[in-house]
Amino acid sequence: MNKSLVVNNKIYIETYGCQMNVADSETVAGIMDLNDYEIALTIDGADVIIINTCSVRENAEKKIWNRLDFIKSIKRKNKNIVVGIIGCMAQRIGVKMLEHPVVDFVAGPDAYRDLPELINNSYLNKKYCNTDFNIKETYSGITQKKQSNEDISGFIAITRGCDNFCSYCIVPYTRGRERSADYNDIISEVKKLKQNNFKELTLLGQNVNSYYFEDNKNKVNFPSLIEMVAITAPEIRIRFTTSHPKDLSDELIDVIARNKNICNHIHLPVQSGSNKILERMNRKYTREWYLNRINVIKSKIPDIGLSSDIFCGFSGETEDDFQQTLNLMEDVCYDMAYMFKYSERPGTFAAKSLCDDVPEDVKKERLNRMIHLQNKISLKKNKADIGKTFEVLVEGFSKRSDNMLFGRTEQNKVVVFPCLNKKRGDTVMVKIKEASSATLKGDIINS
Ligand code: 5AD
Ligand code: SF4
Repeated sequence: MNKSLVVNNKIYIETYGCQMNVADSETVAGIMDLNDYEIALTIDGADVIIINTCSVRENAEKKIWNRLDFIKSIKRKNKNIVVGIIGCMAQRIGVKMLEHPVVDFVAGPDAYRDLPELINNSYLNKKYCNTDFNIKETYSGITQKKQSNEDISGFIAITRGCDNFCSYCIVPYTRGRERSADYNDIISEVKKLKQNNFKELTLLGQNVNSYYFEDNKNKVNFPSLIEMVAITAPEIRIRFTTSHPKDLSDELIDVIARNKNICNHIHLPVQSGSNKILERMNRKYTREWYLNRINVIKSKIPDIGLSSDIFCGFSGETEDDFQQTLNLMEDVCYDMAYMFKYSERPGTFAAKSLCDDVPEDVKKERLNRMIHLQNKISLKKNKADIGKTFEVLVEGFSKRSDNMLFGRTEQNKVVVFPCLNKKRGDTVMVKIKEASSATLKGDIINS
């Protein structure tokens, strides 16, 4: 039977992985909206289920295989449902994903304009996979569609892909070569978010600092782009992620320092504190270079919030190398860090040429020590905020109590405080009274 006879064109998009994937899911929703699909907010009753996947660690992929097994039970009840896999895992595994009994189509990160056709073919019981790279694809002209009406925070992908080839990382293989979006498109998107009353926007890229776009009028690098964005929307909080330490310039630090609405928060993944390991990782900077960037940031922006990605157990990491990572964490005093243990990814330089030689139990034990240290540092940094007052953008009710709201400071710290009739999207001044390693607590003042 032709499946299309029985559908209402309701599409549900489920997102895993990074903020880039969240932004991509909104782009996909935009493409499907143009093709008369309705975006479903829950999986129940959806005709098409799209899963936007991540490949960064083996566990991220395991989660997707488990999810597909769950979806098998939904599809058993309704055989007409179409299921598609998109994102990094779709690109990495490709056509082989079609061998899973529930998967009808597969599309890589540069193939999303093709989704309506892939879905139509699925209705005709034809299974296709499109994992072609397209170096020109920045999804120019597609308006992202939010999956909820209440959104106050938007994402704009300013670069796609990555040319850095860190030896452990799958991203250059799943997202292809780096390209920058036209700054005119980015500014139009900012104006749209402004019209729609957004309070915060995040400029996204695997390495935002290498943004560069040139036309016959202007040559635009990242510092000039973010300043243009900040001036276009002075009432919106501007964030950006991710920065590569090798490209973080003094010019950018100055732009953050002088524009009030660019948040004083920098996510600057260090990955390791040992020069030997940084070289094996092909990070192209040293511990000394990184610490110099941190010192310049701290001297020009004293109230900066700093966060990082760090992982242990990479090829060749000795206890001494690991100690250097712990020592760097103490030196920098991060407010927050995402911490992982190394997971070898097939196809990367490390998988081909470096031995995954740190035993699993040592990786686990080092990760625990790293998390323990970071909790101590976060607590110390958060306690130092007691007595200070921060501007907080309200995001919603706290998980623990309906009388409490939560929001974030510009340093990206979560703050919990009593409601006082405030709501999502309001900006309030909160004086901090208490601190744990993960959260600040306080009271609204001057309201
Ligand atoms: N194993 C463990 N962690 C990894 N990351 C990237 N690749 C790997 C890997 N193979 C981490 C890095 C990166 C973050 C997104 O994930 O810290 O910054
Ligand atoms: Fe995961 Fe990296 Fe792909 Fe984001 S870019 S979805 S973190 S593999």
